[in-house]
Amino acid sequence: MEKVLYNGEIVNRSDCSVQLEDRGYQFGDGIYEVIRVYQGKFFTLEEHLDRLFLSAKKLSMDSSLDYTTLLSLLKKLVDVNGVVNGTVYLQWTRGVAKRHHQFPVPSAKGTIIAYTNSLERPISNIQNGVSAKLVEDIRWLRCDIKSLNLLGNVLAKEEAIKADCFEAILHRGEIVTEGSSSNVYMVKEGKLYTHPVSNLILEGITRKVVKRICGEENVSLIERQFTVEDLKSADEVFITSTTAEVMPIINIDNEPVGGGKPGKLTVLLQNRFQDQINQLGALH
Ligand code: PDD
Repeated sequence: MEKVLYNGEIVNRSDCSVQLEDRGYQFGDGIYEVIRVYQGKFFTLEEHLDRLFLSAKKLSMDSSLDYTTLLSLLKKLVDVNGVVNGTVYLQWTRGVAKRHHQFPVPSAKGTIIAYTNSLERPISNIQNGVSAKLVEDIRWLRCDIKSLNLLGNVLAKEEAIKADCFEAILHRGEIVTEGSSSNVYMVKEGKLYTHPVSNLILEGITRKVVKRICGEENVSLIERQFTVEDLKSADEVFITSTTAEVMPIINIDNEPVGGGKPGKLTVLLQNRFQDQINQLGALH
């Protein structure tokens, strides 16, 4: 029987239900994380929990679980469900309260749930690359918070999928921000660029890993805004996320990127990323 984390306890999935007046359900008033599991071991779990608690702080959300308890419950959940390769989806809402827009007074107990999914690595897409579509970024101005409010992202991804693309690359006017569920990078004249950390993007955990790898490999990652025109004439483009890892973009709006196949620097970063996954056994 599949187990889930539900308000501080590991219970059967069938014993978990959403309350009508949960603020996550009614307002999208909550936050989430998607965390990777490889060979039964968490990848960058602490970084994800740090970002979760930071998102909660930015939204003045109370916790019903402290960091250490949550960490050990998540490990237990992965163990009891026997996850080998997969993800944990964790969601934390402001809790259940009569429907008024303003925060409930006194504050409600946050609702925290987590469940597991089996998911193999996207090997074929990583090796061959995928296509992307440029879509105007119509999201709010706090994209740094990993909030449940994903309508802007959902609409963008849908546009990409309808155009037979894997990802939507978002731009605010001329400036490329990020993907609908990923961070975006380009290589131009041997230099690697990505949007700086700001309210316009989510600071991805995979982005942090890539940044660390760049430091180790003496590749300078330039965190500076670039334009749609820059992107279209880039030598290499790739995206990163918990589920996509380091994924080459070989086509944007039906035009090939670089040579129309994964670029050299992208492949180098992919190989180092693979090393990090391989090291998991040694790290924990
Ligand atoms: N998405 N930017 C956005 C808008 C995202 O939704 C994500 C992740 C990222 C990359 O973050 P990370 O490297 O921490 O996964 C960037 C997750 C996977 C999702 O919503 O499914």
